[in-house]
Amino acid sequence: MDYILEMRDITKSFGEVQSLRNVNFRVAANEIVGLLGDNGAGKSTLIKIITGYHRPDSGEILFRGQKVEDLTVPKARALGVETVYQERALADLQTLWRNIFLGRELSNRFGVLQVKRMKEETHRLMVEQMGYTSSAVNPDSVIKTFSGGEKQGVAITRALYFHAELVILDEPTMGLSLHETRKLLNFVRDIKVAGKSAVFIDHNVFHVYSVADRVVVLDRGQIAGEFLTKDITHDELMEKMYRVAQTGSLD
Ligand SMILES: Nc1ncnc2c1ncn2[C@@H]1O[C@H](COP(=O)(O)OP(=O)(O)OP(=O)(O)O)[C@@H](O)[C@H]1O
Ligand SMILES: [Mg+2]
Repeated sequence: MDYILEMRDITKSFGEVQSLRNVNFRVAANEIVGLLGDNGAGKSTLIKIITGYHRPDSGEILFRGQKVEDLTVPKARALGVETVYQERALADLQTLWRNIFLGRELSNRFGVLQVKRMKEETHRLMVEQMGYTSSAVNPDSVIKTFSGGEKQGVAITRALYFHAELVILDEPTMGLSLHETRKLLNFVRDIKVAGKSAVFIDHNVFHVYSVADRVVVLDRGQIAGEFLTKDITHDELMEKMYRVAQTGSLD
C-alpha cells in the first residue's frame, strides 16, 4: 500500500495534559480518512502536527515513505498539505486574491510580483470554481467581510488550485447552512475523484460516514479503533461511538 502520510508512535503533551499517546496514524494514497472522537480526544492536536503547527514530543512522521524531521507549516505546505477550516485558515485583513496566492505568489523571472495576473486568476477561479455571483465579492474584497461558507469556498479553491495531495478538514461544516454543508461534502468527494487524499474531522457521524473510506476513532489521546466504512453500517458506527464514550473501548 502507498501511504501519503505515516505517523508512528506520536506523543504530545501540553504541560500536564497528554493530548496524544503512542498514536499510529496513516493515510493511503487516494484515501479519505474520517477522524472521530469526543471533545478533547486529540483530533485537532493530531492534525496540527500534520500541518507542522505543533511539534510532537516523540514519534516519527513520514510523507510518501520519507521521514521528515522538524516539520514546519511551510514544509508541510510544500509537501502538499492544505488545511480547510472556517476560522484561521485565511488572513482576515487581506484581500481575496492575496489569500488565494498567500505564500505562493506568482512573480516574473525578475522576482517582481505579477499582481494583475494573480487578480485575473482569482477572478477566473471565482467564476469557475467558487461559483460566486454576489457582486459584493471581487478579487479585491477583504476576507473579513465574507460569510463562513464563502471563506470556506476560498480555502477549498486554494486547495484545488494548488493541487494539494492531502487536504485536512477540521470541523469544516461547523456553522454552515445545509446547502453549504452539502457543497462541502461534495468537495470532499471531489478530492477522492481527483485521486488525492483527505483527513476529515466532524462531530456529525453521518457526515464522516458519508465521505470516508476509513474511520479512525480517537479516545482520550489514543486510537480506540478503526473501520472501513464499507464493512459497517451508519447505525453500527453510531452504536460503536456510544460504546467508546461509555467504556473507552470499541468492543
Ligand atoms: N495549545 C494547547 N495548550 C494546552 N492544552 C492543549 C492545547 N491544545 C490542545 N490542548 C489539550 O489537549 C487535549 C486535546 O485537545 P484537541 O484540541 O486536540 O481535542 P479535539 O479532539 O480536537 O477536541 P474538539 O472535538 O473539542 O475539537 C485537550 O485536553 C486540550 O485541552
Ligand atoms: Mg478539535
